[in-house]
Amino acid sequence: MSGERRPVLGFSTRAIHDGQEPDPATGAVSVPIYATSTYVQDELGKPRQGYEYARVSNPTRDRLEKNLCSLEGGIAARVFSSGMAAIHAICAMYKTGDHVVCGHNLYGGVPRLFDQVLSGYGFQFTYVDTSNPEKVEGAIRPRTRMVYVETPTNPLMALSDISTIGEICRRKKVEFVVDNTFMSPFFQQPIALGADMVVHSTTKFLNGHSDGLGGVVVCTRQDQADQLAFVQKAAGAVLSPFECWLVLRGTKTLRVRMLQHDANGRRVAEFLAQHKKVEKVFYPGLKDHPQHALAKRQMSGFGAMITFETGSRANAARMLKRVRVCSLGESLGGVETLISHPATMTHAALGEKGRAAIGITDGMIRISVGIEDVEDILADLDQALG
Ligand SMILES: Cc1ncc(COP(=O)(O)O)c(C=O)c1O
Repeated sequence: MSGERRPVLGFSTRAIHDGQEPDPATGAVSVPIYATSTYVQDELGKPRQGYEYARVSNPTRDRLEKNLCSLEGGIAARVFSSGMAAIHAICAMYKTGDHVVCGHNLYGGVPRLFDQVLSGYGFQFTYVDTSNPEKVEGAIRPRTRMVYVETPTNPLMALSDISTIGEICRRKKVEFVVDNTFMSPFFQQPIALGADMVVHSTTKFLNGHSDGLGGVVVCTRQDQADQLAFVQKAAGAVLSPFECWLVLRGTKTLRVRMLQHDANGRRVAEFLAQHKKVEKVFYPGLKDHPQHALAKRQMSGFGAMITFETGSRANAARMLKRVRVCSLGESLGGVETLISHPATMTHAALGEKGRAAIGITDGMIRISVGIEDVEDILADLDQALG
């Protein structure tokens, strides 16, 4: 009925239907992949439905942006060719001399972008322990434009209090950006907690099948959405229609995958915590995690990312050589269990001193628990630990 307000739909219903409406032309239930670089125009200055050129807009991309916007509770989303391209696009909205406060323990590619690329353009960065909101507030300067937080962090699984930092940023009139890659919108809703923008590497849980790169920024204001659309058009790091479709397919099962990732993650964390060859486990679902209470407050699950200490690089290397069900490889968030060595893989770019400063050791192993039968994952870890 026209004018009737749609009831607020549940997460999975929105994941399956928002942006995923049947194709109006054919009724196809799966969103078509519009593999086109350009669009025919009926007459000069009259593009059909506004589509002119694929770097500027593409119907498959529009559908994914609508879908991800709905899941994160924003007003618009813009997708990019990778998570790093999405983070770069946010920074492209700022000017020389602008200052960013960011977490000191982030995915290693982020400080690489900040320090080795953007510093050269005159951007300033201050790294602080964002799990302490006072340190965030203390680092804000007159030219600070953004506070950038990853929670939980990669790989140390430290949390930042999104509501408290959001309140500081609102008071100081600074944009607050949260990387929600590890939790996905199913387990954590940063915008509802006070973030101004949410970023994801869609490469991870949103895609969920380790078959495509991608990134997204979800916005809460139209000026952010307009500026990011301009960056898409001007800089061009947009997501291809096929990879948009892969993420659209992925989000349809996000809820069921995340529930299984979480169930398996809890079992693996408990198993590792009692294993005699494991010295320490970093997982917010464990009662001895220093921010377990905050995890219960701001997340609705604990997820599948676990880091643990084996004591030495030799121990880590021995275990990683012996895994059979778990796959040794970078990345995370796929249906398969991926296991990695932060010091030589995801966080190699930080250098030895950089890693030591934040507590990443050579004996640490990070695991992204997949959705295989958990007994098989546990047996594999047990035999690999020896
Ligand atoms: C938390 C987090 N954010 C961002 C990125 C970057 O994403 P991408 O590899 O899609 O560029 C990664 C990559 O591992 C990540 O783990």
